[in-house]
Amino acid sequence: MNALLFERPVWFATGPLVLEEEAQEMEDVTYHRPVLAAEVVELLAPRPGSLVVDATCGDGGHSEAILGTGADVLALDQDPEAIQHATDRLARFGRRVTFRRANFRHVDKVLDQIGIATIGGALLDLGVSSRQLENAQRGFSMMRNGPLDMRMDPQNVVTAASIVNNYTGEELTRLFRDLGEEPAARRIASLIVKERKSAPFEETLSLARTIEKVVGRHGRRHPATQVFQALRIEVNDELGALAGGLRILTDRLEPGARIAVIAFHSLEDRIVKNFLRDRSREWLDRPEWPAQRRNPEYDLKLITPKPVEPGEEEQRANPRSRSAKLRVAEKIE
Ligand SMILES: C[S@@+](CC[C@H](N)C(=O)[O-])C[C@H]1O[C@@H](n2cnc3c(N)ncnc32)[C@H](O)[C@@H]1O
Repeated sequence: MNALLFERPVWFATGPLVLEEEAQEMEDVTYHRPVLAAEVVELLAPRPGSLVVDATCGDGGHSEAILGTGADVLALDQDPEAIQHATDRLARFGRRVTFRRANFRHVDKVLDQIGIATIGGALLDLGVSSRQLENAQRGFSMMRNGPLDMRMDPQNVVTAASIVNNYTGEELTRLFRDLGEEPAARRIASLIVKERKSAPFEETLSLARTIEKVVGRHGRRHPATQVFQALRIEVNDELGALAGGLRILTDRLEPGARIAVIAFHSLEDRIVKNFLRDRSREWLDRPEWPAQRRNPEYDLKLITPKPVEPGEEEQRANPRSRSAKLRVAEKIE
């Protein structure tokens, strides 16, 4: 167990924005617990000695489980802190695990650099880790004060603050609506534009309070959840990276190897679902075509026609797992 996260009681710094139940959940999180770890290993079914790309290694929990099967791992993360923690955790596996700090949208370059043409499996466990979320200085949390940052890769130029303070009201509205599915997008954007005239937004809690003024509090979900989600997706171009990463990793799979993806919200799950469906359809049909045509991209077989979700026990033990959806497909021979 990692004692670091017990250094300070997290709910003290959050003021009235924290709900008691949420604070309890946060207190329970000590490090990132890999979601659906047993299911990932079973469905990915890596062959011993093959090389699996863990494209989002985070704290290294899934990598550890994959290494336990006898497969080797290429562990990527765009966050240097994640790479550091995973390197320490997995040191005992020696040369069976290789680490690279990289965005998975550039995995082609990494594989070329280490001279790997095809891979024996790939895992994408999307979003942020509990460790990133819990560290107020990273700016992901609407419940603890920190800089309005939200970059997974600290070398990126765009931060949440630069978006909030520079996008037009129209751009903010579109962002909150399209990437946050926030019904009050326009009203929130208008208040942000008004308030930033007196002072730019620099901290997470000042933005969260502005959103709360518009939306109020209903239920146990924090009112800023959707806007924070939208900002995080935009800062890290998460949907663009996902579309690119899925394609490259799938192209690199050797026949019989599988790709597993865990999504945590509907926007990313839709991209995964559509991608796997499009590549696993042998025939295409359109009303204007005289006959069906063979799909030139057909190279996958769906292993999970329906997504796998965590059972009640996992959801209770790890509340972050609640929205997880795992989809798996296999490269056809
Ligand atoms: C949910 S966590 C993964 C946790 C990990 N499976 C474990 O067992 O600890 C997601 C991780 O993916 C990383 N990440 C997200 N998008 C990425 C991208 N496009 N390229 C590389 N890493 C990414 C984040 O920095 C974060 O550390």
